[in-house]
Amino acid sequence: MTISETRQPAIRVSLLPRDTNPNGTIFGGVILSYIDQAGAIEARLHGADKVVTVAMEKVVFHAPVHVGDLASFYGELVRLGRTSITVKVVVEVAAAGSRSVPTRVTEAEITYVNLDETGVPTPIRRTS
Ligand SMILES: CC(C)(COP(=O)(O)OP(=O)(O)OC[C@H]1O[C@@H](n2cnc3c(N)ncnc32)[C@H](O)[C@@H]1OP(=O)(O)O)[C@@H](O)C(=O)NCCC(=O)NCCS
Repeated sequence: MTISETRQPAIRVSLLPRDTNPNGTIFGGVILSYIDQAGAIEARLHGADKVVTVAMEKVVFHAPVHVGDLASFYGELVRLGRTSITVKVVVEVAAAGSRSVPTRVTEAEITYVNLDETGVPTPIRRTS
């Protein structure tokens, strides 16, 4: 079963020609940028208000992404610390115009730190 059958993505995008690398596939940095945004959205769902990224780990690019592919970014809580939160983001892609099963192309774990208005780490609100 793919994630798309059970959950809503934090972000869904269609990749454009401007996002390509010299090989014609999608530049990994573009995917990482969306992963960072999707993870921050997930972090907010767990009580973080104003976050900065402190670490990206376990980044794996399983398969290339192509122009026109529809990429869905799914966030999942890994660890809730005092001022930090770690989220896993999984990216699934459906080929343009295809009704085939989405495939997992990338995954990563991102740690964010919750900052107060002066930019100092501050405890994350407990939501439950
Ligand atoms: C995020 C930042 C404010 C943290 O500063 P710091 O002095 O390390 O803060 P602290 O030591 O109080 O640690 C804060 C939390 O971050 C965690 N943390 C710090 N460095 C970490 C790392 N490399 N990996 C994972 N977690 C880390 C700590 O464990 C702590 O978590 P906890 O409160 O849940 O236990 C500082 O590193 C920073 O400003 N980094 C740049 C962030 C940024 O600009 N990101 C965008 C890049 S373009």
